[in-house]
Order: sequence, then C-alpha cells, then structure tokens
Amino acid sequence: MKPEDYFGDRFELAQQYHELLATDGSTRGFIGPREVPRLWERHILNCAVAEEAIPAGAKVADIGSGAGLPGIPLAIKRPDLNITLIEPLLKRSVFLQEVVDKLGLSNVTVIRGRAEEKTVRAEVGLVDVVTSRAVAPLGRLSGWSLPLVRKGGKMIALKGSSVAEELERDQKEIKKAGGGLAEIRLVGEGVAEEPTTLIIIPRIK
Ligand SMILES: C[S@@+](CC[C@H](N)C(=O)[O-])C[C@H]1O[C@@H](n2cnc3c(N)ncnc32)[C@H](O)[C@@H]1O
Repeated sequence: MKPEDYFGDRFELAQQYHELLATDGSTRGFIGPREVPRLWERHILNCAVAEEAIPAGAKVADIGSGAGLPGIPLAIKRPDLNITLIEPLLKRSVFLQEVVDKLGLSNVTVIRGRAEEKTVRAEVGLVDVVTSRAVAPLGRLSGWSLPLVRKGGKMIALKGSSVAEELERDQKEIKKAGGGLAEIRLVGEGVAEEPTTLIIIPRIK
C-alpha cells in the first residue's frame, strides 16, 4: 500500500519523519545506510500497523525507541494515543525530542532513561500498553515492560519469526513479571510487503 493511502491526512507528518530519518537519523548513525531506501516498508509502515492491537485513547509507553520506532509512527497514525518514548542514550533522546518538536506531536513525551529505573517508572506511572521493537530477548523485555503496565493492560513487542521459541524459552520470566497468556498476532496484512508479528502479553498480576 502506498504510504499516502495508509496515513491519509496524517501523511505529511509521516513524510516529515521519513525525511528526518533519511537525513539526520542516518548521518548521526541511528539508521544504517542500507535501511534508507526501505524506511517506509521495513520501518515506518511495519511499525505503524501495530496500532491494530492498541485500544482507542490508550496511554502508551514505547521502550528503547531508538530513532522513534515504533513510537513515532504510532503517534502519527493514532493521534488519540498518548505516547511516552523511553530511551537511555543521550544522542537518541535528543533526536527524538527534535522529531517531536519539528512535527508538533503534542501527544508525545520523551524521557531519557532505562525502562527498569525507579525514577523512570515513577515518571511514567502505569500505562495501558507498553510497546517495543528490537530491544531485548522476550524474558528480559517482559521484566522491563510489564511493571509499567496497569493490571489488565498489555505489552506488545514487535518480534521476528522466532517469537514462538522465545515465548516457550522465557515462559518463567514472563510469569514472574506478572504476564498472562501470550498471543502471537500478525497485523498489517496488505499494508507493507510483509505483515508484522506481534507478541501481546497481558498483565494479570
Ligand atoms: C536495537 S535498538 C532498537 C531501536 C528501535 N526500537 C528500533 O526498532 O529501531 C535498541 C534500543 O533500546 C535501547 N535500550 C536498551 N536497553 C534499554 C532499557 N533498559 N530501557 C530502555 N531502552 C533501552 C537502546 O538504547 C537502543 O536505542
């Protein structure tokens, strides 16, 4: 699907983000040169489609946002969401704040820190949904994500095809972090070339 068709009246913002990733994001080393020609397919659209699993008006925290993925495409596609981007590295968090300011994304806040830090947890509070992509193996990731999720909320991680093995391997850690029965779900059929694989884990205690 063409990005302009997918984003509709939010396409201009998506295009501005694409431009920032392809220029500053690339020269500052957050996006590899080989990724630049496939930013729409492999990054922006591929991340935005995770919105299918996020309820209306949700409070979201995106951990390890890096250059803004998936948090920024989600915030562009879904202005109803309130999104906090959590990123420990200074250069990346500065870039994220620049993106937010340049695009005028009033639904996004940037916090510099690690998801598991006490101060970060206190600042973010409890959210409905925690998202992430390419941050850590599932067990460790659930230990960072689920403490930020309110009971009844969920963590949503964008994962590759080996997610079922990760799930089996890390079951104990997920349970210890308060996670319930996980669901593996494909989203974005017909949007990007490949659908996106999500693992969705509810917080039950
Ligand atoms: C491989 S990058 C992925 C960036 C982005 N999510 C993406 O998909 O392009 C992993 C990011 O996670 C961040 N990170 C690592 N440990 C973290 C933690 N404990 N809490 C929050 N972010 C973390 C790193 O600084 C880095 O920006």
